[in-house]
Amino acid sequence: METTAVIGAGLMGHGISYLLARAGHEVRVFDPSADALASLKTRHLAITELLGDDPALCARVFPTGDMGVAVDGAGFVIEAATENVPLKQQIFTELEALCGPDTILASNTSSIPLKDIGVNMTDTTRLVGSHFWNPPHLVPLVEVSQLARENLPAVQRTIAILAAAGRHPVHVKRDIPGFIGNRLQHAIKREAIALVADGICDAETIDDVVKMGFGKRMAVLGPMEQSDLVGLDLTRAIHEVLLSDLDTSGAPHPYLVDLVEAGKTGMNAGQGLRKWTQAEADAVRDRLRDFLAAEAKTS
Ligand SMILES: NC(=O)c1ccc[n+]([C@@H]2O[C@H](COP(=O)([O-])OP(=O)(O)OC[C@H]3O[C@@H](n4cnc5c(N)ncnc54)[C@H](O)[C@@H]3O)[C@@H](O)[C@H]2O)c1
Repeated sequence: METTAVIGAGLMGHGISYLLARAGHEVRVFDPSADALASLKTRHLAITELLGDDPALCARVFPTGDMGVAVDGAGFVIEAATENVPLKQQIFTELEALCGPDTILASNTSSIPLKDIGVNMTDTTRLVGSHFWNPPHLVPLVEVSQLARENLPAVQRTIAILAAAGRHPVHVKRDIPGFIGNRLQHAIKREAIALVADGICDAETIDDVVKMGFGKRMAVLGPMEQSDLVGLDLTRAIHEVLLSDLDTSGAPHPYLVDLVEAGKTGMNAGQGLRKWTQAEADAVRDRLRDFLAAEAKTS
């Protein structure tokens, strides 16, 4: 087992640190927020209850307000601090100075290119992307992205550590925006928003079509498997008719921009693409958590 460190104890950092502790690692967690550190144990205990784990595993987690203490002797460090370019550049400059040359330095960034995160580092060969999905303790996928050819050993070590921690790491061979999962997810969202904006259907109908239709089988049948299942000749024939009709805009749709400008930003505002009462929003969150927890317990 390695000594590991997690930089940032927010939504993602608390789940990632839990996973590493659950896998038997000692985990030091750094956050400048005293509140984030003080609440960490309570949040970890809530996960043990959700997953039916032994609460004793929380004793392997050591919160600290000193980044040097957090990374001292750590072989694997994951940064999960606020999504902000200068902040991450600063953190990785400090990490490079504080950590030994063999320590893997991973970032959980959702969108910032690794080349920008490491711009002030002297040597970026141990910098990798490790993009977990929320909540990281319930969704198994981690996209491990590779900055350059010489980063392959660091990518392979990261994949091995995450696989041993019960995750499902995949290798993203180039440092591209959105990695793989968000490119696929937002290709669907782009088309969905265009359909609603064009008056083809409402937002509820989009959700029904996905949840009651192809979404039902997606957890067991990826799009490539599905294409091979129905036959690539059919996929080709559909593409010949359909692709030229799909939305291809290279910017956020005006429909989405107008909603955001009007303060209709989603569940927390009571309205986004759909209208939400507090009870409805809570019910969606509970449904998602319970579904993912049941999946996590059986997988
Ligand atoms: N929320 C998601 O769904 C999601 C999914 C995948 C990846 N991510 C990425 O994970 C990272 C963290 O996101 P989050 O949702 O946990 O955010 P969050 O706001 O919940 O937590 C961020 C934490 O970083 C801390 N922080 C601020 N400055 C810091 C510093 N200098 N050093 C260390 N910690 C610092 C904050 O105090 C806070 O506790 C971001 O890069 C985000 O893009 C988020």
